[in-house]
Amino acid sequence: MRYAEITDRLQGLGGEKWEIHNLARALKATGIDVIELTIGEPDVPTPAPLLDLAKAGIDAGRLGYSNGRGEASLLAALAAKYTIRSGRPVTTDQIIALPGTQTALFATLLTLLGPGDEVIVGDPMYATYAGVIAATGARAVPVALRAERGFRIDPADVAPQITPRTRVLFLNTPHNPTGALLRPEDITGLGALARQHDLWILSDEVYEEMIFPGAVFHSPFDRAELADRVVVTSSISKSHAAPGFRSGWAVGPAEFATRLLPLAEAMLFGNQPFIADMTAAAISSPSPVAPGMAERYSRRSKLVRARLDGVLGMQVPLPEAGMFALVDIRALGVSGTDFARALLSQSHVAVMPGESFGEALKGWLRLSLTKEDALIEEACTRIIDYAKTLKGISA
Ligand SMILES: Cc1ncc(COP(=O)(O)O)c(C=O)c1O
Repeated sequence: MRYAEITDRLQGLGGEKWEIHNLARALKATGIDVIELTIGEPDVPTPAPLLDLAKAGIDAGRLGYSNGRGEASLLAALAAKYTIRSGRPVTTDQIIALPGTQTALFATLLTLLGPGDEVIVGDPMYATYAGVIAATGARAVPVALRAERGFRIDPADVAPQITPRTRVLFLNTPHNPTGALLRPEDITGLGALARQHDLWILSDEVYEEMIFPGAVFHSPFDRAELADRVVVTSSISKSHAAPGFRSGWAVGPAEFATRLLPLAEAMLFGNQPFIADMTAAAISSPSPVAPGMAERYSRRSKLVRARLDGVLGMQVPLPEAGMFALVDIRALGVSGTDFARALLSQSHVAVMPGESFGEALKGWLRLSLTKEDALIEEACTRIIDYAKTLKGISA
């Protein structure tokens, strides 16, 4: 039988990137105690008051069909959030509620891109980006994010990559996997390029509330001069430790939302009212869990650095936000994938190979910071022990 081209384009861009994570889960299922530092699962449960609200919504029968745009309660809460954040009126007709940032990215890119178009994206990038871009038929044009620039995308590196086919500048701030935060001057430079070449800016801000102490979040959406060309995608997955609810959104110019709406209707035919009510409540007051997570992940990133940086040539740049620490293991002379596979099978520590996030992280590892300090310490000890064996030093 014949299949659509999209299935060819997505070959190798799906679950393969999570090989080590899946192997770790399989090992755990056999009873082996694995320290799992792979995915960005929040280290706290969804706050009880939000669970109570969701349950109350179910009990109250908030289970009927919704509409393609989202429940009025949620749209109003999101409009208020982005109005306060940007300092200019953001209205409900600029927003579409979608099941998680991932779906919002997919729907947004399908609204903005088609076959033959180009999208500029930082490399490394979150593991699903290659797939979500390929799904549209557009071509990803990677721009290397340099460690010496704190992994912040450099407008000077973006400029030469712009062609008449470029449609979208795909940003992610705070950035996964690097933990980089865009600075005002970066946004100014990128915004100028977008205006000059009439590009969209897509800003994935799912880690907006995971800002480490002392760092500051800036968004291109909050620039009045970019209001006609910036789309933000986000969710409560990280901010409210609620990834399983699959509750997210896209916000951009009103015409963008009008264009996206039939697509959302074709995909979903409406959201889940009880989840919408709970999400509206969640984003209407400060998250009870985000500051604690940010503080812990920041502390643990410093712990990883204190343990690994400089050991056998390994390097650990400090993230400014997010849930992860990167470890440069190029001095050990093996790929991130080979290291991660062996570390899992021999030492029962699961980390993501940098290769899962792009060319620029060949020979790196990404460690999730969502496990207790003692486990992170133990994982570092095992990483050092395994690294020693590679260098012919007995552990
Ligand atoms: C950068 C980035 N974007 C999007 C997502 C997906 O988020 P959601 O759970 O809202 O779909 C993740 C999840 O880890 C992520 O790291």
